[in-house]
Amino acid sequence: MDVESLKAEAGISACSYVKSGMKVGLGTGSTVKYTILELGRRVREEGLEIVGVPTSIATEVLAREQGISLRELDDLDGLDVVIDGTDEFDPEFQLIKGGGAALLREKVVAQSSAKMVVVADDRKRVECLGAFPLPIEVTPFSSGSTLKAIQAVLNCKASVRQGSDGNLVTDNGNFIIDAQTGPTISNPSQTEADLLHIAGVVQVGLFTNMCDVVILAGADGVSVLEKEDTS
Ligand code: 5RP
Repeated sequence: MDVESLKAEAGISACSYVKSGMKVGLGTGSTVKYTILELGRRVREEGLEIVGVPTSIATEVLAREQGISLRELDDLDGLDVVIDGTDEFDPEFQLIKGGGAALLREKVVAQSSAKMVVVADDRKRVECLGAFPLPIEVTPFSSGSTLKAIQAVLNCKASVRQGSDGNLVTDNGNFIIDAQTGPTISNPSQTEADLLHIAGVVQVGLFTNMCDVVILAGADGVSVLEKEDTS
């Protein structure tokens, strides 16, 4: 099966977590796009009644096109569920996100959601995080100094992500630094804390202890992986 079909399978399967009356965080990326398309179809054809909170301008545009009602996070008292993609997930359901440069809004929305459902194809499953370059959102002010500080903390090379016309600028007016740690992030919470200590760092693409469910599409079909409740 080709990757696009796997993305579609995972994205559409996740819609089973959405019922009428829910407040739903809408993630960003090429996998969750299929979730948004399917939710839009259910709104138009089946009378599904939801309000969505988008995690990026791109998702906002797509969700509006699909006829999904959108609200500001601040107008709602928390969300029932967020569905989002990931760049990597490890056996503890810790994530690297931000490949689509939307990590800040994605993390704010995920923190406001009672449940986080991640949609992925099986290329995203890893034993140890970090083969995917770790995205870190930073202030444009003195981003060169922040880059050096990140390299020192992580002891690896890092670079400012480029867009079509110079440094890529996020929806929040910031830059993204991608850190080439390699698959070495064995304590993601500590790495996240160490990076957040750097003044110019706005947010880190490590989503620790947030993900509850991974909908994983592979050659053998779709699996629903649920995080074991350790509380
Ligand atoms: C955007 C993200 C995406 O969810 C992540 O990059 C996965 O995207 P895709 O489903 O296109 O592989 O974190 O900031």
